[in-house]
Amino acid sequence: MKEISFLAILAACVAVIFVFSCRTPTERLMVQPAAIGGAEPVGMETCALCHEDMVKTFKYTAHACLSIAADDREVMGCEACHGAGSLHMEAGGGRGRFIINPKKNPEPCFQCHLEIKASFNLPYHHPVSERRINCTNCHNPHGEDIYKAKGLRIGRENEVCRQCHREQAGLRVFEHEALRDGCTICHRPHGSIHDKMLVERDSNLCLKCHGQIAMPGLITIGDFSHTTRLAGGTCWSAGCHTAVHGSNLNPHLRY
Ligand code: HEC
Ligand code: HEC
Ligand code: HEC
Ligand code: HEC
Ligand code: HEC
Ligand code: HEC
Ligand code: HEC
Repeated sequence: MKEISFLAILAACVAVIFVFSCRTPTERLMVQPAAIGGAEPVGMETCALCHEDMVKTFKYTAHACLSIAADDREVMGCEACHGAGSLHMEAGGGRGRFIINPKKNPEPCFQCHLEIKASFNLPYHHPVSERRINCTNCHNPHGEDIYKAKGLRIGRENEVCRQCHREQAGLRVFEHEALRDGCTICHRPHGSIHDKMLVERDSNLCLKCHGQIAMPGLITIGDFSHTTRLAGGTCWSAGCHTAVHGSNLNPHLRY
């Protein structure tokens, strides 16, 4: 028993080293790096002179390994999003001084994440392009939460969603255990071709966890035959399980 846990710890350490080391810089197609007229890149260690804490956590994120070729130069790390920093540094730093702050504007992110840009253009999407919410409502660009489960990818997903959707993410008397796996089991976080940004538009959304095929053509869920019920509409819109996020009244999530 002891031996197994020792091996598990060792394996975990190796995994951590593997994840946290930045051996090969990531090459990635970029449309156009953030540009500040007349400025030259100075590198992350220079930013660290004044923004020490940020650089410390940032080094553990996927973005720390970024390297972009721009005008025969290499732009790395911080400057990939904030633009070249020489003028900002010479001016002694400061807000609004020769540096880009992408707080409200997702464009610097879209320069590299073209596929994410595409998902925000799908018919049902979070209003990021409309500037009502921003990438940084859900992602931390500097990795302060990197030590949580999924790092930059979002530590505790449901808590992120709860900031704005208290009703769906709130505690219920009869919880729906599906929510323990995270909202993204059923919703695309950026955008979807389906209403309410659902992963699937029909009962297959639910059948991937529920339901057994008793005989070809016969579907039971729980102990009940659902064959004819499933023909009546989706599990949630046919008036059967409208409380998909959990219920305070009914254990079968009927309302
Ligand atoms: C000489 C010190 C110094 C250096 C070097 C420096 N900064 Fe700054 N920076 C500052 C100060 C001071 C502020 C203002 C902070 C505040 O008001 O809280 C600032 C603000 C910023 C802001 C916010 C700007 C805004 O308009 O809101 C960004 C982004 C930034 N720095 C990025 C960088 C990057 C990237 C580097 C490296 C290329 C860097 N800084 C190097 C001192 C520096
Ligand atoms: C992936 C893009 C990206 C990278 C890389 C990046 N930042 Fe940022 N940075 C942002 C965004 C987005 C914001 C605005 C965050 C917010 O206020 O919600 C920001 C804000 C800032 C600010 C202003 C914080 C404040 O209090 O308003 C500073 C300073 C800063 N970044 C420094 C750095 C430094 C130093 C690095 C490198 C270690 C770095 N950034 C790397 C995207 C990035
Ligand atoms: C210079 C190019 C570049 C820019 C600019 C950029 N990213 Fe990234 N980003 C990457 C690369 C490369 C990865 C590594 C994973 C991949 O290939 O998708 C990544 C990964 C991510 C991930 C997943 C991290 C993980 O742990 O898997 C998130 C979330 C992310 N970026 C968000 C952002 C946000 C938000 C912004 C703007 C504030 C931004 N990125 C700006 C290139 C970029
Ligand atoms: C409403 C919250 C939210 C917003 C806003 C948001 N994201 Fe995400 N993003 C997520 C979640 C949740 C995941 C994890 C998806 C998963 O694990 O299935 C994710 C994953 C990612 C990834 C990893 C690759 C992938 O597709 O899984 C990248 C890159 C990314 N987001 C970039 C961005 C950028 C760039 C923006 C702004 C233009 C943005 N996100 C805005 C919630 C959000
Ligand atoms: C910063 C606030 C914010 C965060 C965080 C956030 N959302 Fe949203 N969400 C919105 C806004 C704004 C809308 C658009 C509502 C509208 O158009 O009336 C929306 C819409 C939605 C919709 C579609 C609602 C409808 O009626 O069509 C779903 C589903 C959704 N969000 C799920 C999520 C999930 C899952 C997460 C976590 C990954 C999340 N949201 C995080 C603000 C947020
Ligand atoms: C088991 C699948 C499932 C999970 C998990 C799930 N949802 Fe939903 N959600 C749905 C379905 C189905 C709808 C559409 C309901 C309708 O149209 O009546 C929906 C609708 C929504 C809406 C639109 C408003 C509404 O209530 O109709 C929001 C916002 C939302 N969900 C947020 C979330 C958040 C936040 C989480 C995580 C805490 C989450 N959902 C987890 C299936 C799910
Ligand atoms: C990620 C897996 C998953 C998904 C997807 C999922 N569920 Fe569930 N659901 C569970 C688990 C786990 C339970 C609790 C154990 C059980 O009763 O089977 C549960 C319980 C339920 C219950 C209560 C069962 C009872 O005792 O009456 C209902 C009703 C339900 N789910 C409906 C739905 C509907 C409707 C959808 C689609 C919108 C859905 N589920 C999607 C995992 C899931």
